[in-house]
Formats: sequence, structure tokens, C-alpha cells
Amino acid sequence: KKVLYSGMQATGTLTLGNYLGALKNWVSLCDDYECFYGVMDLHSLTVRQNPTEFRQNARKLYALYVAAGLDPEKNCIYYQSHVPAHAQLAWVLDCFTYMGELNRMTQFKDKAAKHADNINAGLYTYPVLMAADILLYQADVVPVGVDQKQHLEITRDIAERFNNLYGEVFTIPEAYFGQNSAKVMSLQDPTKKMSKSDENVNATILLLDDKDTIIRKFKRAVTDSEAEVRYGEDKPGISNLMEIYGCITGKTYDEISAEFSGKGYGDFKLAVGETVADELAPLQKRYEELLKDKAYIDGCIKENDAKAAYFANKTLRKVHKKIGLTGLI
Ligand code: TYM
Repeated sequence: KKVLYSGMQATGTLTLGNYLGALKNWVSLCDDYECFYGVMDLHSLTVRQNPTEFRQNARKLYALYVAAGLDPEKNCIYYQSHVPAHAQLAWVLDCFTYMGELNRMTQFKDKAAKHADNINAGLYTYPVLMAADILLYQADVVPVGVDQKQHLEITRDIAERFNNLYGEVFTIPEAYFGQNSAKVMSLQDPTKKMSKSDENVNATILLLDDKDTIIRKFKRAVTDSEAEVRYGEDKPGISNLMEIYGCITGKTYDEISAEFSGKGYGDFKLAVGETVADELAPLQKRYEELLKDKAYIDGCIKENDAKAAYFANKTLRKVHKKIGLTGLI
């Protein structure tokens, strides 16, 4: 089987963007791929974390993965920080990455602008740690949202550079954007992506929001002054709602336009809100049950940490040998 690798940061709770852009599409992939999914807690350290909340958020992310339908017996779901090889390989790869390349990363520029008081070196080398995550498992495919495209490109560049110097050490990974994967934009500013760090709570649907909250946020979503449900660049707000609605119901934009022709935006927003709430209800129920079953989650983490470490260390040993580092790992 080909190898697949992905993960999410353990920062705050997940958003509808994380779900429709990534998680929802991951569930069926284990039939075709050997799948690894990390709780990316080392990446989360690039932003200051409250230790207690951070620990809980990592745990919540693990439970959300499972609640969304990722079976921990069929997918290796583990904690990034529990496998030291990630940090070890990241250092090596730092030495094979140019500052010029990192300077071009748009996510770094965005985050640096947003966290002007804490532009730390970790934020800058974030893509190198991400490259280490992927390359350690010799991943063939990496399912991510389109916002991660540039990080996948730099991962490939680093891997090719290394292979050119030392022989075939790393598999060159490919980004995988699911057919049904949506890019979800902020409900308050539909030219920006929906993000868990948005200060405006109405901008973001959280996976654990209750039905009333979800509907209220959709009702307040920014649209335009027309009344026509139509997809188009001139209508980013309505287009975003159509993308969300289409992604869940499988309806095309034409079908959605027809369904709401002659009705106002109010009806459309309510329908989108209800559809999203109904989609998330079973996930939320499973999540609550899982949080109560501490022993089950602990067991899954322990087993999968060990499995991940086995594969990761194999690659790390190979890398150390190639570059001339000695000693046991
Ligand atoms: P993170 O936590 O920022 O995002 C997790 C996944 O959610 C997708 N995503 C979105 N998709 C659609 N619309 C949105 N508004 C939206 N917001 C987020 C992201 O594309 C991503 O797939 N750097 C990674 C985490 C990571 C990783 C890796 C991924 C660390 N190491 C190795 C793959 C392989 C990230 O962006 O996480």
C-alpha cells in the first residue's frame, strides 16, 4: 500500500474549514493507503500556549479525529511530540533549507503580521518541521487543504535536494486535494480563510458549536446587497455558503441556485446552518462519548505512538548514516 501522511495543529478546537477541507475526506482513505495522522503539538508551540489548555486541546484533537470517523485501529493516529525523530530530522533538514526559501512562505508572512509581538524562529522554520513529519514516513501522498500547497512544494524541494546529494533517501510526496474538499472562508470576511485564531467569534464555525450557535452564525454571515443565490467572484459571501452547502449535500452550484431561486438570503442561510448542524451532530455525540472513555483513548495513543516511532526511526537511522552522524538512535 502507498503511504499517506497528514495532521492538524493542536491549537484550539477545529473549525468547519479543517473539517470540510481535510478531516472529512480522510475517513475513507485507509482502504487505499497506509495512513498516518499526527496531533501536531510541536507546530502549535509556534504560538504561545497555556499549558493546561494546550494539553486538553491535544487530547480533544485526538478525540475529534476518532469522532469524525478515523478508526485508530486502521489509521496510525499519534502525537508528534511523542516521536522524538520529528524534532531530530527537522534539525537536519533545517541545515538543508535556505532562508531565501523560507522568506517566500506566505503563511509565515501572514502569521508574522498577525503575531507581530512573537515572530519566533519556530514560526519561521515551521515548514521544515512539516517536511520532517512527511518525509519520516516516506509518504507518497499528503491530503491537505489548498492553503498548504506551498508547504508541500518546499517539502518536495528539500527532499529532492537531499536525495541529489545522498541518493534515494526520501520518497517525494505529492499533495492530495480531495475532490470534495472545500476551501472554507470566514463568515465575516469571505476574502479570508476561516481560521481558529480569528478574533471575531462569528467568523468561524467550530466543530463543537451547538445547533443554535451554528444557525446564529450563518444568519449573521456577511453577504451582498443582491438577493440572488449565485456562485461568482463578485459574490464571495454567497459563494462561500454555496461551497459549504454543496460540499455537504453533494449538490452542484446550479442545483443550489435553482433550489433557492425566488427565495431570500434568509432562507438560504438557514438551510446552510441546519445542514451543517445536522452533519456535525453525530460527530459531536461520538466525541462526548469518547472523552468519557479515557482508557480507550490512552490505549490507542500508546499503541500508535510506538508504531509511528518504529517507521520514523527507520528513516532517521538511514539519514544519519548517509550524512555521517554516528551513534545509535
Ligand atoms: P492546520 O491545523 O492549520 O490545518 C489543518 C488542515 O485543515 C486545512 N484547513 C482548511 N481547509 C479549508 N478551509 C479552511 N478554512 C481551512 N483551514 C485549515 C488545512 O489545509 C490543513 O489540511 N501545517 C499543517 C499541519 C501539519 C501537517 C504536517 C499537515 C503539520 N505537519 C504534515 C500535513 C503533513 C496545517 O496547516 O495545520
